[in-house]
Amino acid sequence: MLSIRRLNFLGTITDSTLGELESINLVEARNVFKWFPIKGGLFGRTIANVRAVDGVSISIRKGETMGLVGESGSGKTTLGRTIMRLIDPTKGEIFFDGVNITRLSGRSLKRYRRRMQMVFQDPYASLDPRQTVRSALTEPMKIHHIASSKKEADEAAAKLIETVGLNQDHLERFPHEFSGGQRQRIAIARALAVNPEFVLLDEPTSSLDVSVQAQILNLLKQLQRRFNLTYLFISHNLSVIRHMCDRVAVMYLGRIVEIGNMKAIYESPKHPYTFALLSAVPNPDPTKRKEHEPVLEGEVPSPIDIPSGCRFRTRCPYNTEKCAREFPPLVEIEPGHWVECHYDIDFSSARRSF
Ligand SMILES: Nc1ncnc2c1ncn2[C@@H]1O[C@H](COP(=O)(O)OP(=O)(O)OP(=O)(O)O)[C@@H](O)[C@H]1O
Ligand SMILES: [Mg+2]
Repeated sequence: MLSIRRLNFLGTITDSTLGELESINLVEARNVFKWFPIKGGLFGRTIANVRAVDGVSISIRKGETMGLVGESGSGKTTLGRTIMRLIDPTKGEIFFDGVNITRLSGRSLKRYRRRMQMVFQDPYASLDPRQTVRSALTEPMKIHHIASSKKEADEAAAKLIETVGLNQDHLERFPHEFSGGQRQRIAIARALAVNPEFVLLDEPTSSLDVSVQAQILNLLKQLQRRFNLTYLFISHNLSVIRHMCDRVAVMYLGRIVEIGNMKAIYESPKHPYTFALLSAVPNPDPTKRKEHEPVLEGEVPSPIDIPSGCRFRTRCPYNTEKCAREFPPLVEIEPGHWVECHYDIDFSSARRSF
């Protein structure tokens, strides 16, 4: 029987049999909605909904890094938190390793929680300022029964701290004694302490200096290879996404409007929104930078009042009457490359139209 071997940071090898390999997707969201109701009036009735996630289907394959990109407020974090079952979807189904986890709670949800961890933009948010690094790392091991004794937890913490590029002396210190980059290394170590398979990385380097960003991104890549991790990588920075991801999903006002392999998205974007985002990325070579970089114009409409038909139409230069009337179909324009647009637009002569 075919088996794969997973090496965790404890050095333990776990064998998985072919049965577990059947699902090539580790994480899957099927037609997921997350609406936040707005209450008002005398009786506190729902008067409107913030449609943060508005019908998203996405699958993340084992071992890959899926990028999730989009402007602020497009629903990236909400989608990530819904997938992790940190918040309940309004509608839709979430699968983890082939199992429908949408309605799990209590103990059975806890089992899956261990397998899914999260790293935020701000490591302060995930680290308790009064807790030493040692206890920040060993506490989740205890909660999830990863280590059977204090000694084993301490040994694991010692290995783990070195795995993320720090040393054992750091275990007795507190979060404020570290630089931003070091703190993010600790937050990563804490996420890995429970030996997860899936890690949601929500803007993990956005608050760091550029030089430190690169180190953390490289560390994340190394850890992914070493521990066979699957990532959902959220960022509004397309250069970072390009560096990190195998596939990319582009989110606009609660929907994924385009998804495909990294190369396809970057070299031949098909949705006008993706094209606009890419056009807004400054050229890294200053000599090639145009005087006025094209930028995406206009504000993102409110997720409380989403435009009819195609939700991007109010900012789209290709907008027609049909776009206001009809919801755009999701079309697979080449294998694995999906676009939600009425038209197959050729952007070759439109480089600067945004
Ligand atoms: N708990 C909540 N209650 C009400 N509205 C919320 C809640 N959480 C998020 N929203 C709204 O949902 C929308 C999507 O927010 P979300 O944080 O998911 O966006 P994002 O893409 O992660 O943005 P950013 O890039 O700024 O992090 C926003 O309009 C936000 O105000
Ligand atoms: Mg966010």
